[in-house]
Amino acid sequence: MQPPGGPPQKIALPNIKNIVAVASGKGGVGKSTVAANLALALAEVSPRVGLMDADIYGPSVPIMMGIREVVDQRTTAFPMERHGLKLMSMGFLVPTEQAVIWRGPMVHRALVQFLTDLNWGPLDYLVIDLPPGTGDAQLTLTQTAPLSGAVIVTTPQDVALIDARKGLEMFRQVRVPVLGIVENMSYFEGDDGKRVNLFGHGGGRKLASEAGVPFLGEIPIDPRVAECGDQGEPIVRKYPESGVAKAYRALAATVTERLQQIDRGPELPEVQL
Ligand SMILES: Nc1ncnc2c1ncn2[C@@H]1O[C@H](COP(=O)(O)OP(=O)(O)OP(=O)(O)O)[C@@H](O)[C@H]1O
Ligand SMILES: [Mg+2]
Repeated sequence: MQPPGGPPQKIALPNIKNIVAVASGKGGVGKSTVAANLALALAEVSPRVGLMDADIYGPSVPIMMGIREVVDQRTTAFPMERHGLKLMSMGFLVPTEQAVIWRGPMVHRALVQFLTDLNWGPLDYLVIDLPPGTGDAQLTLTQTAPLSGAVIVTTPQDVALIDARKGLEMFRQVRVPVLGIVENMSYFEGDDGKRVNLFGHGGGRKLASEAGVPFLGEIPIDPRVAECGDQGEPIVRKYPESGVAKAYRALAATVTERLQQIDRGPELPEVQL
């Protein structure tokens, strides 16, 4: 059912070429980590990249990017900058340990303001880190932001896959292109090069094929991912030669390719003359 007056108008963001939401129906599968490292990997190729934290109640970007200071809300006309990225998060306005107790409309307003009131400057990519679930933030962004597409993150376990599917279907319902599925914590590779599938393996690929969307790749488990996240320098920056960093770079290349495909529109059938 449409609300009175028809569907909400999408805001125009002509300065931002591609807006990519990183999402999953499930919590704790690594959305924020994927969003941060994907943004950094994109920034290695294209210098104008932003990362927006849409998790108003539990922002992760400040800690992951090593920004502890809080700024005055009334004077923030510009996003923060760190590691070559432009950044915005509720955690820059309210200390991370302080709870934000807001109703849906306030979350909506904050996210719209992040997108429209901040001077992002021209960006090639804006990566948006979504909170878990299919709630207010997802609704606002899918209905009002001109999203180019969504990357769905899952871990290989069945429970995560079920929730990832829900997340994916939500984007489909609101006609935001699903760029594909990435399987995080896919396997652990020991020093001897042997792979151990700690949480199972291959569920992401299977889900992608069942849902008819591309599989974007696998990110291995590496304890340094968590260490880097806590220390404010994501693994793509801190250990650029690690297998995980390489997997993120491959993900960035695939995402870029998918965005170009979507831009070109559906392939026209060949005409027989
Ligand atoms: N590939 C990985 N290897 C090891 N640890 C990882 C990996 N990916 C994510 N983690 C760790 O898993 C934890 C959860 O990750 P993250 O916060 O990115 O998940 P999330 O889906 O954003 O969670 P939430 O739903 O709470 O927003 C973090 O401690 C993170 O460092
Ligand atoms: Mg998160």
